[in-house]
Amino acid sequence: MKKIVKNGIIVTASDTFEADILIEGEQISTIGKGFLPSEGTEIIDADGCYVFPGGVDPHTHLDMPFGGTVTKDDFVSGTTAAAFGGTTTIVDFCLTEKGKPLKNAINTWHNKSEGKAAIDYSFHLMIGEINEDVLAELPSMIEAEGITSFKVFMAYKNVFQADDATLFQTLIKAKELGALVMVHAENGDVIDYLTKEALANGQTDPIYHALTRPVEAEGEATGRACQLTSLAGSQLYVVHVSCEEAVKQIESARRAGADIWGETCPQYLALDQDELRKPDFEGAKYVWSPPLREKKHQDVLWNALRTGALQTIGSDQCSFDFIGQKDLGKDDFTKIPNGGPMIEDRMSILYSEGVAEGRISLNQFVDLTSTRAAKLFGLYPKKGSISIGADADLVIFDPFAERVISSETHQMKVDYNAFEGKQIKGVVRTVLSKGKVIIQDNVYKGTEGDGVFIKRAKYGEELRNTALERV
Ligand code: URP
Ligand code: ZN
Ligand code: ZN
Ligand code: ZN
Repeated sequence: MKKIVKNGIIVTASDTFEADILIEGEQISTIGKGFLPSEGTEIIDADGCYVFPGGVDPHTHLDMPFGGTVTKDDFVSGTTAAAFGGTTTIVDFCLTEKGKPLKNAINTWHNKSEGKAAIDYSFHLMIGEINEDVLAELPSMIEAEGITSFKVFMAYKNVFQADDATLFQTLIKAKELGALVMVHAENGDVIDYLTKEALANGQTDPIYHALTRPVEAEGEATGRACQLTSLAGSQLYVVHVSCEEAVKQIESARRAGADIWGETCPQYLALDQDELRKPDFEGAKYVWSPPLREKKHQDVLWNALRTGALQTIGSDQCSFDFIGQKDLGKDDFTKIPNGGPMIEDRMSILYSEGVAEGRISLNQFVDLTSTRAAKLFGLYPKKGSISIGADADLVIFDPFAERVISSETHQMKVDYNAFEGKQIKGVVRTVLSKGKVIIQDNVYKGTEGDGVFIKRAKYGEELRNTALERV
């Protein structure tokens, strides 16, 4: 079955041009002008719209046990919501358990996702410990499972937190095997001390979540991870960067030649710490780790995106209902499950606050929400690219239309949206995943299980649908 996406303005990470896209089966076969459609070719009109490569969200937590509960959105609702927002690939975090084979964790995540996803997906693998068994198993994670990124938590003491020895050995091993190491960079020991002190003083409201996780704790951990990466001669990706102190560490390590990358999220760009002071426990809706920061950090983050000091936008989708989940921490902020719903509005916020407000260019928008993550995580050019042979994952986007974000109309399963009532410039009209229209004018046209697990290429290598043929 052939399709032609006609009359749109194609926007990639590097170029903006008028052309039509011929799709054959699941892939883009030609890009050009004046195609003569054969009988049965479906024409998709993109007149007046941009055509972007489908978004790649490198940071989601679907169906994940955390904070005494389980994230509300699973691989059905989470990936469907992602599709509505223009995202056509996600990489989700697979949690491992100490003392248990890594393969068990991978199987658990396959069981959560197989046959459920609306869009293609992959997994990052959490590393909580390094021992003989883990070292023996890691090569097969890359070679057999196609999981080419490892995640180490420097925070969440007594839950996920790993020590420096674990991080350092993970960095060394990742370099050897061809994987990218990701870190949640906050000093968990310092935060543990500060939270205990706050509780002892009777400070139990949501705002103390932010006040006990200061910017210094993020800056210090980010700097430490950068130094260990340089020492190991390895590669690092810092997730959810929230503040100037962390940006500075990444910037200076990169200037010194380190292979280090940084992600931020829509919440840090467009919300600030005062949200946590909302009355009636509403502040709990805005509990993320790292926490929302003072407003001045937003300019620093936008500047970092514009100048290339940070390179990607993740959603850090980790959704919990306000009623029944967030309220576990009603009397104690340390019991509020950390995280929020963002998979659906990730691209919207970046377009509306970024491109429409003149903070970043259109091409930067594509790089930040799709192409760069595809390159870093071994998905490019199959994903994150409008090129011949790439998957026909496309977003037809009307830059002149507007909409209002609301939990009444969002697709995520949670009972609130952190951007409730926000007016957004730009609306997703059509989303194609592997040549199939899965979203049309806010209606889901796909089928559960359209999305499949993707085995990714090693760090720095490309993932192609077909091998190059000799001519
Ligand atoms: O608060 C957050 N970020 N929740 C998700 C888990 C994590 O640390 O990424
Ligand atoms: Zn038209
Ligand atoms: Zn994290
Ligand atoms: Zn996360």
